Amino acid sequence: MPVYLIKPLLFTLCLLPTALLGWQFYADELGANPIEALTRGTGEWTLRLLLITLLMTPLKRITGWYWPIRVRRMLGLFAFYYACVHLMTYLWLDQFFDWDEIWLDILDRPFITVGMLGFVLLVPLALTSNRYAVRRLARNWKRLHRLAYVIPPLGVLHFWWLVKADIREPAIYAVLLGALLAVRSPEIRRRAAGKTAQQPAG
Ligand code: HEM
Repeated sequence: MPVYLIKPLLFTLCLLPTALLGWQFYADELGANPIEALTRGTGEWTLRLLLITLLMTPLKRITGWYWPIRVRRMLGLFAFYYACVHLMTYLWLDQFFDWDEIWLDILDRPFITVGMLGFVLLVPLALTSNRYAVRRLARNWKRLHRLAYVIPPLGVLHFWWLVKADIREPAIYAVLLGALLAVRSPEIRRRAAGKTAQQPAG
């Protein structure tokens, strides 16, 4: 499929959870606690999109396709978009903008502290994801964007600390994240490159 079709297709797919959650909220189909369901839904999509964004570079390396690099920024921005909706759901529908209560929550509940840290770190990435910032920041841009490897672990930790007994779901995200970070290790990349070189052509 040509790149000019892949990008709009992925754009539409990324908007689907918003449409679905929005519709379910409007139609009162989010169960007994719709605000919790909305917070959870947007939180999960933030984490999924962070991981999908991390997948793009290894996907390009393995397949040789160029489109994963062309859509990477868009996917990262969608992760930020879902993080904003997630945070707004919490601030508005859950806490009614009661700033004293919110501040106490950030200080008292470690899973909120870690989630907030993840969000705060996402902001400079989103603000500098344009060509102008890449040019202005030069080498510092790459340094800053290494935060993309710090934020998903914070997201997983946030999820892990939230669930009380059944850790299966955050554990799945932790394993996927571990694999995505492991394939970036220089040793694994060196071995993979060696294997490719040994394979006979054709
Ligand atoms: C990078 C940023 C973040 C990520 C990746 C993230 C991800 C998640 C995930 C995966 C869940 C669990 C969903 C489930 O139970 O199925 C969740 C729940 C939650 N998150 Fe976040 N989150 C982030 C930032 C924040 C921030 C900044 C806040 C608020 C200050 C927040 C507040 C919450 C709350 C209150 C819940 C629990 C909802 C409930 O069970 O009632 N999150 N988040």
